[in-house]
Amino acid sequence: MELRFFPINIFRETPKVTFFDAGIDSSNGSDVVIHSGEAISPPDDLKNEQYYVHYHQIDHNLVITGERTFVLINPSWDEPHHVIYLNRSMGALEIPIGTYHRSISGKEGCIVLNQPKRDKFFDPTKEFIPQKLDKINLIKARKSPPVYWIFENNKIKRLYLNPVERKVKTLIRNEKTFIP
Ligand SMILES: [Fe+2]
Repeated sequence: MELRFFPINIFRETPKVTFFDAGIDSSNGSDVVIHSGEAISPPDDLKNEQYYVHYHQIDHNLVITGERTFVLINPSWDEPHHVIYLNRSMGALEIPIGTYHRSISGKEGCIVLNQPKRDKFFDPTKEFIPQKLDKINLIKARKSPPVYWIFENNKIKRLYLNPVERKVKTLIRNEKTFIP
């Protein structure tokens, strides 16, 4: 499964000032999620991890300050488990409909701008209810070895680690998206 990242368009950058266009053409929402220090969205319920899953919204998560780790679980994907160490340079991470997801910030905290694409059936009272991984296919997907996404040498890289092989693939950037 190749994830999509929508790059920002930097107009001006100096040591103390960064000025960029973060627009996503198809987006019709603009949500800000602030983690003031160590935090998880959605928080654990006792010891159980919780996740969001959307049915009428595609997320595009862009880190504005700090770093945030996203975990994506989708049993319908050939690679159902992804861990993304997201920073601003990677652009906005797209999270497709039906994908279980959660995000984690370190001690420094983090600000994320989500520019979703919502359809006409979107209902905020139904779309943001934390879910446990309570089905066999979800638990199996969570236990499968994750694909890691990192930013290194100015490029997004995906790493798949297992005891026998180690694959590193670099994505090539075009104008609007990273195409593998
Ligand atoms: Fe979301």
